[in-house]
Amino acid sequence: MVKPSVFVTRRWPAAVEAKLAEDYNVVLNTGDKPLSPAELRDTLGKFDAVLPTVTDKLTAEALDIPATQTRILGNYGVGFSHICESSARNLGLTVTNTPDVLSECTADLAMTLLLMVARRAGEGERELRGGSWTGWRPTHLVGTKVSGKTLGIIGYGRIGQEMARRAHHGFGMDILVYNRSTIAPEILAQCKASQVDSIDALLPQCDFVSLHCPGGAANRHLINARRLDLMKEDAFLINTARGEVIDEWALTQTLIYGLIGGAALDVFDGEPRISPDLLQCDNLVMLPHLGSATREAREAMGFRVLDNLDDFFQGRDPRDRVI
Ligand code: DGY
Repeated sequence: MVKPSVFVTRRWPAAVEAKLAEDYNVVLNTGDKPLSPAELRDTLGKFDAVLPTVTDKLTAEALDIPATQTRILGNYGVGFSHICESSARNLGLTVTNTPDVLSECTADLAMTLLLMVARRAGEGERELRGGSWTGWRPTHLVGTKVSGKTLGIIGYGRIGQEMARRAHHGFGMDILVYNRSTIAPEILAQCKASQVDSIDALLPQCDFVSLHCPGGAANRHLINARRLDLMKEDAFLINTARGEVIDEWALTQTLIYGLIGGAALDVFDGEPRISPDLLQCDNLVMLPHLGSATREAREAMGFRVLDNLDDFFQGRDPRDRVI
């Protein structure tokens, strides 16, 4: 049997690339540079499967073609808001993602950000590396205690739940949840969490707010100036979801005027471009989209794409089909 042809848009962990090459006719993007819409369209005309990541903007423009040779987009990552859903449907494409395998590591990183911003770790490191540390003193870089505080979680899927587990069982935090659908009582009970009816009801009650909802048009600027204004003036906002969920201009103003305690971001609107205004905010921790960046998670993500491809090409419904 002829092996299906597969195009991988970015370099993957070596072990997964090797397994892919055993099972499929694979072409790698050896330069590891994001593809332009024209290049993406080109691959869709030539390969049975394309395996994109968050850096491949499979927008309505990129997918504006009459037909594709490609039948499946095996996305490497859980979020798929970079793929235009209606265009993918019109083209009859199956789309899969990689849930579960990155939930713990992404929650670990959200907790890292929460601790960093509360304890001013970024500011401290900048000071030390800049050679301006003058030594211990009682008033130096005094931060905020984390243990026992209230954490609001927006989006209580797998990553949100892992975040709650860390915060509640590790740091004794009280957990408030906003989620579009109702969360089963037994899931909430695992972290003694309470679900509230609206984001507006959640924000004023929290010392920390962590975003774990999907990105995309529906959640664009979910956290805007009005909602930032609902946060306590010493509260912290954490985002490991998608950059577009926060109105960055509004956040910058909020941080510059000290209207909240601080923020910590792993994702940015239009990344890797970072708004110069954000760079001016000292009460902001920023990481370059590292949520799932562990050897374990990145390998597991790759093998999960392979599982989905195997299902698809062997005539089964892929386990992680999202479109
Ligand atoms: C994810 O899986 O959504 C990560 O952010 C990488 O895309």
